Amino acid sequence: MTLEKMPALRIGDIEVDIPIVQGGMGVGISLSGLASTVANAGGIGVIATAGIGQFELDGDTNSRQADKKALQKEIRKAKAATNGIIGVNIMVALADFDDLVQCAVQEGANLLFLGAGLPIRLPQTLPLENLRELPTKFVPIVSSGKAAKIIFKAWEKRYKHIPDAVVVEGPLAGGHLGFKKEHLDNPDYALEKILPEVIAAIKPYEQQFHKNVPVIAAGGIYTGADIRKFMQLGAQAVQMGTRFVATYECDASPRFKQAYLNCRKEDIVIIDSPVGLPGRAIRNEFLERVSSGVKEPFKCPWKCLKNCDFKNVPYCIATALTNAKEGNMENGFAFAGTNAYRLNEIISVKELIDTLIEEYHCSGEVVDAGHKAGMNV
Ligand SMILES: Cc1cc2nc3c(=O)[nH]c(=O)nc-3n(C[C@H](O)[C@H](O)[C@H](O)COP(=O)(O)O)c2cc1C
Repeated sequence: MTLEKMPALRIGDIEVDIPIVQGGMGVGISLSGLASTVANAGGIGVIATAGIGQFELDGDTNSRQADKKALQKEIRKAKAATNGIIGVNIMVALADFDDLVQCAVQEGANLLFLGAGLPIRLPQTLPLENLRELPTKFVPIVSSGKAAKIIFKAWEKRYKHIPDAVVVEGPLAGGHLGFKKEHLDNPDYALEKILPEVIAAIKPYEQQFHKNVPVIAAGGIYTGADIRKFMQLGAQAVQMGTRFVATYECDASPRFKQAYLNCRKEDIVIIDSPVGLPGRAIRNEFLERVSSGVKEPFKCPWKCLKNCDFKNVPYCIATALTNAKEGNMENGFAFAGTNAYRLNEIISVKELIDTLIEEYHCSGEVVDAGHKAGMNV
């Protein structure tokens, strides 16, 4: 019996042995520490930019500058720690989206993952006529074939270029979700359903531009067998967030990680984020308090999100998430994917990746053996 290897992931001239992207997790959960460890293990490590400047001394007084400085520092730290592939996650909803994209490209990030909004316009400071010559690759994050089509159409028209890969994130993911609340449990919006829709939506553009655009599946992927399942449905890689939180190398405080280990299935809930999107998080006293109508008064020194109605929202999500990252769970909360309740120990990134590889192999044997015996497995 030969063990089938996980196929390498190729995005243009970038190649990684392990087709696993560590999802960008904002407000300090995935910084250079986690990202460089994942890259060293053969996957793609991703630094998230949401709230990245809040840990700088001038985070409150000059947030734009603080964000850029922190991003520059984190990319440099990651690159000093690995020769592997480092991505940067930038939410389109961030007020300083343009500055952060420019900074990440300048610092030589290998890939930019652009989500929480449709990245149909790139900053004017980039060489928009010659995007294909930039070493940095662009990877939008979408939750439907329709969204993928809108982005590809806009890029074709504006830039005579298309994105280099796409992440399709289903409704089981952690953090902000690109679905209406009432669609989250509707099987028509399940990852199994939207993945083939995204693949079909970008196919004509791949043919027109003679370019392979890998699709990366995300949201609720937990085991190596899950990875195999989504690869069989046409994904060329997976993006995983929740599982990377329960690692020693994750940049969050031990109390944040402990919230994952302590939670039960029923504690994982959908919240109405002040960003205007549903989000998946672990229920705690802070969320109980704000959902019962209690307002957490705050002054907004930075206006970090383009559409945040900061005078009327009940609490500042950036502050709440920063508190949680630092372990102050009394004044914050943890975003988490649907499967967070399945975690019961902290392990190393290497152990996690080795386990996923092993499970991937084993799930193949079961399927292959089943086929040989004519079984319907
Ligand atoms: C704590 C946390 C923070 C996240 N922050 C971001 C973010 O800043 N930007 C983003 O695009 N996705 C974010 N996500 C989504 C992840 O990148 C990833 O796609 C998703 O969690 C995948 O689902 P999984 O957690 O079930 O593996 C976050 C997820 C978690 C759990």
